Amino acid sequence: MSEAPAMTDLGAGDPWVLLHSFPVDRRMWAAQCAALAADGHRALALDLPGFGGAPRMANDPPSLDGYADAVLAALDALGLDRVTLVGLSLGGYVALRVAARAPGRLAGLVLADTRAAADGPEARAGRVLNLGLVRSRGPSALIEKMLPHLLGADAPEAVRAALRGWAGEQSAGGVSDALLAMRDRGDATPVLATIACPTLLLVGSQDTITPPAEHAAMAAAIAGSRVEVVEGAGHLSNLERPEAFNAALRRWSAGRA
Ligand code: MLT
Repeated sequence: MSEAPAMTDLGAGDPWVLLHSFPVDRRMWAAQCAALAADGHRALALDLPGFGGAPRMANDPPSLDGYADAVLAALDALGLDRVTLVGLSLGGYVALRVAARAPGRLAGLVLADTRAAADGPEARAGRVLNLGLVRSRGPSALIEKMLPHLLGADAPEAVRAALRGWAGEQSAGGVSDALLAMRDRGDATPVLATIACPTLLLVGSQDTITPPAEHAAMAAAIAGSRVEVVEGAGHLSNLERPEAFNAALRRWSAGRA
């Protein structure tokens, strides 16, 4: 395994790029990177700008396009023409921007615990409250507020502790940028019908933030896509049920060959 400052690069084979959720960083993909590498793929987990080891984005105001720019720049720097792109929640919003802007770079797409629709008025108002919280009390206060909604009923205590640790290490600036970018993101629903690469929708059965029904609706709009439900997991399905999540990736990958 080689470590660049803001990237995990594990294994050899066809490249998979993994984009993390909010407000954490690429460490959330450790189990998936290990499994993909063991299965003969190259797993690259990136820190989005402003998270983990990555500098904040230059885009002002912050936008999902700023994150997509960073992903495409990383692919160029790595000399990767086409990749399987995996995004969970915030990572899925970014993956949909990449799909819109550079569809030819995608050999496959995995959208996990995410949505295509933009924030409605209530969600936008919630972002403003969360911005105030992060600016006054930092990302640790935000993760405490989010935790009850992020995880399913039976989530292991170790997952809760890991999330607290990772979120607490993020900068208030990077987390605030993401809140603004998510608040102001556009509706990506029209992008769904343009997606032509093999696509998997993955969702925890107990995901109340981006529920299974939304994934079924996205799948209906993406030709040839398929949905898998990770039973017993909430919004962070890859962390709560890593074996089930990895098995779903494996089944889909084998089926598209
Ligand atoms: C995430 O898990 O990345 C967040 O729930 C995304 C969001 O707040 O919309």
